[in-house]
Amino acid sequence: MNAKQSVLEIKNLQTSFFTDSGEVRAVDGVSLSVRKGKTLGIVGESGSGKSILSLSILRLISEPGRIIGGEMIYNGENLLNKTVKQMRNIRGNQISMIFQEPMTSLNPVFTIGDQIAEAYQVHENMSKRQAMDKAVEMLRLVGIPSPEKRVKQYPFQLSGGMRQRVMIAMALACNPDLLIADEPTTALDVTIQAQILDLIRELQQRLHMSVIFITHDLGVVAETCDDVAVMYCGKVVEFSDVHTLFKEPKHPYTVGLMNSLPRHDIDQEELEAIKGSVPSPYAGLTGCWFAPRCPHAQDLCREALPELTEIGDNHKVRCWMYSDLWNPNQTEPEVNT
Ligand SMILES: Nc1ncnc2c1ncn2[C@@H]1O[C@H](COP(=O)(O)OP(=O)(O)OP(=O)(O)O)[C@@H](O)[C@H]1O
Ligand SMILES: [Mg+2]
Repeated sequence: MNAKQSVLEIKNLQTSFFTDSGEVRAVDGVSLSVRKGKTLGIVGESGSGKSILSLSILRLISEPGRIIGGEMIYNGENLLNKTVKQMRNIRGNQISMIFQEPMTSLNPVFTIGDQIAEAYQVHENMSKRQAMDKAVEMLRLVGIPSPEKRVKQYPFQLSGGMRQRVMIAMALACNPDLLIADEPTTALDVTIQAQILDLIRELQQRLHMSVIFITHDLGVVAETCDDVAVMYCGKVVEFSDVHTLFKEPKHPYTVGLMNSLPRHDIDQEELEAIKGSVPSPYAGLTGCWFAPRCPHAQDLCREALPELTEIGDNHKVRCWMYSDLWNPNQTEPEVNT
């Protein structure tokens, strides 16, 4: 992909947790890029490393975790070379995040107005009064009714959907270039989910932001994203634009995710789940980490880890099936369940 078009280019990023039981490679050699003004979806089962990847981008990994390798080129500069102070500035002004758990991210003892206004006071040197006016404006932007009244309320006085809107208002307060939304709708009921997704889409277009949208829901990806990275056990196993991914998923894991999507044209009972379970994060498997669950795995897959390889225009896959080494005649073994 043309680096000039991307706002963030991640190369071979590695983040590990060094625990008493061993090293957990939460992000294990991730490479991907986020195009300017576009939405990149990141999908994968629980534990695949989506949240740790986003926290790594913001350099918010704490002990026993560490970013141990790779590069994150943001507007031409490596975020890993920034000082703590420079990173704090970037987090306030350029890259912001909506966290997976809004209830724990809002401070219960401050009004929501105070919490939004703080960003303007710290980063833009506004007076308290100006910052409060901006907070009201932001609440209005994210569709909160009577924002003048709401700005004086505490988080517990708002419904879950409203609190998520407040989180979005806080994340957008300093007009970021890049917004990271980590499962922003999981805690909400379906109607509210749809409203929040519409809101993020609308604001993105209005404000020309780039967005990283994390979800385990492929239906949401189809509606919201331009590009998609599919993660499995800390690695990107497939990357492409959303149309190609849905039309021609290549990695057997992506195919499995697609087959487990509820569809209108088939009976629910025919839905296929992906057999087996995610390997232990300490397993230290050689070979492809999906091999134990893969219906096509052959010896090669158990012996060596495939690279993420370009197989088409902006379409990459990490699977031996698409390499010259693949033996189409090798009998397929039983899948471990
Ligand atoms: N503090 C920690 N110590 C040890 N391991 C950790 C720690 N935090 C995360 N991990 C491990 O890192 C891996 C990736 O976790 P992460 O939270 O990024 O998953 P996720 O894809 O966001 O999952 P979910 O969909 O459940 O939010 C998991 O194996 C997890 O157990
Ligand atoms: Mg997560």
